[in-house]
Amino acid sequence: MTDARRFAPATERNREPILEVLRTWLPGAGTVLEIASGTGEHVVHFAVALPQLAFQPSDPDPANRDSIAAWITHAKVANVRMPLDLNATTSSWTLPEAPVAVLCINMIHISPWTATLGLMRNAAAVLTGGGILYLYGAFKRDGMHTAPSNVAFDESLRARDPAWGVRDLEAVLEAAAGAGLALAGITAMPANNFSVVLRRD
Ligand SMILES: C[S@@+](CC[C@H](N)C(=O)[O-])C[C@H]1O[C@@H](n2cnc3c(N)ncnc32)[C@H](O)[C@@H]1O
Repeated sequence: MTDARRFAPATERNREPILEVLRTWLPGAGTVLEIASGTGEHVVHFAVALPQLAFQPSDPDPANRDSIAAWITHAKVANVRMPLDLNATTSSWTLPEAPVAVLCINMIHISPWTATLGLMRNAAAVLTGGGILYLYGAFKRDGMHTAPSNVAFDESLRARDPAWGVRDLEAVLEAAAGAGLALAGITAMPANNFSVVLRRD
């Protein structure tokens, strides 16, 4: 039998620091929607650690959805739904249940700016007042890179696709505010990344 699980080594390094931040922000019950779940390693790890919550992963890439499904089966976790085909840029998301929070880890820099705008618009539409959107990734601050390694990372992203790149956090926050998502917290993370928590007005 083939094993569709994909492996992203960075998830093993960043999943615990991310989980520690999520513990302080996620509510005690409800469904957490993840956009751009990738391999599915993060969502399975979070679901095992936070059994009081249900998790709904998603990804527009069918091979990633196969990997997410395979990780769910492998981990035998009951509180993760099968992945949805959701794209940040689509006009609206159809969900089986309203989420109390939306997670988006490492997507903003590796997609066109329209994906960030769509993420903000759609997250604001599916969250009710007080619900949070959690972002994780590399960001510039006030137009400046925060580390030399991020300069090289930005260049490598733009070489792969000119529409990609490390975004200015202030521009991301402006897009969020325009959609009705207010900044609730920023945490500096290992390897020059940031956790950013936005709250639905
Ligand atoms: C670098 S991977 C990150 C995956 C995972 N969150 C992680 O941190 O390991 C980027 C992910 O963004 C997804 N993605 C790219 N464009 C997207 C879009 N417009 N809407 C939703 N997901 C998107 C890709 O399919 C991929 O799974």
